[in-house]
Amino acid sequence: MERGRNIVLIGFMGSGKTSVGLKLSYRLRMTVEDTDKLIERREGRSVSQVFAEQGEAYFRQQETRLLQELLACPYARIYSVGGGTPVRRENRELLRELGMVVYLQVSPETVYNRLKGDVTRPLLQCEDPLGRIRELMEERREAYESCADVILDGDGLDMEQILDKIMTELGNLPALAMGQAAQEDRATGSIRGVSRMEDTLGTRQEAGEENRD
Ligand code: S3P
Repeated sequence: MERGRNIVLIGFMGSGKTSVGLKLSYRLRMTVEDTDKLIERREGRSVSQVFAEQGEAYFRQQETRLLQELLACPYARIYSVGGGTPVRRENRELLRELGMVVYLQVSPETVYNRLKGDVTRPLLQCEDPLGRIRELMEERREAYESCADVILDGDGLDMEQILDKIMTELGNLPALAMGQAAQEDRATGSIRGVSRMEDTLGTRQEAGEENRD
């Protein structure tokens, strides 16, 4: 399987994918895309609305379809993907095809504390969110781990350490050497690449835009 030159951030809801993606995009001068946002823009409604109106299965189909489309994008990017994306085996293959997969691992308690009061995660709108987080995390653990090139301890490392570790791993994977990818993205890629994405997805997200995790 040929691997793309993207960086793909995976991990449970609230693991910090969005924040890491954003910081990394500044450091590498690469565009960052959040797959939930791409789906929301294409759908013209929020993830919660998609779940409520068409159900989780439909949302999962959209995730797979989107990953297939992202594979056709010729320029290297950072992708932050939904917490449930790696659960489908097909998606795990697509994620690995996209590029280097970085798994941000955090404890259920961290997620619970970060997302207390959040109403945008349909799967956590229940009586016992901490119990649900524990359950889902356990169910997904193997999927996350089997998909990852790099596993980072999101509880034990601060942002700078996480970024440094990702940079080191990139340096260890010549096919993903970011000097080259960032240059390409800067020269023409981010503009042409993003506009192509707009053609495909009817959406646009640049590095630096605020997004959620
Ligand atoms: C989900 C995670 C969410 C979003 C949806 C389902 C999940 O993304 O895709 O609510 O199944 O874990 P974040 O991980 O960005 O919160």
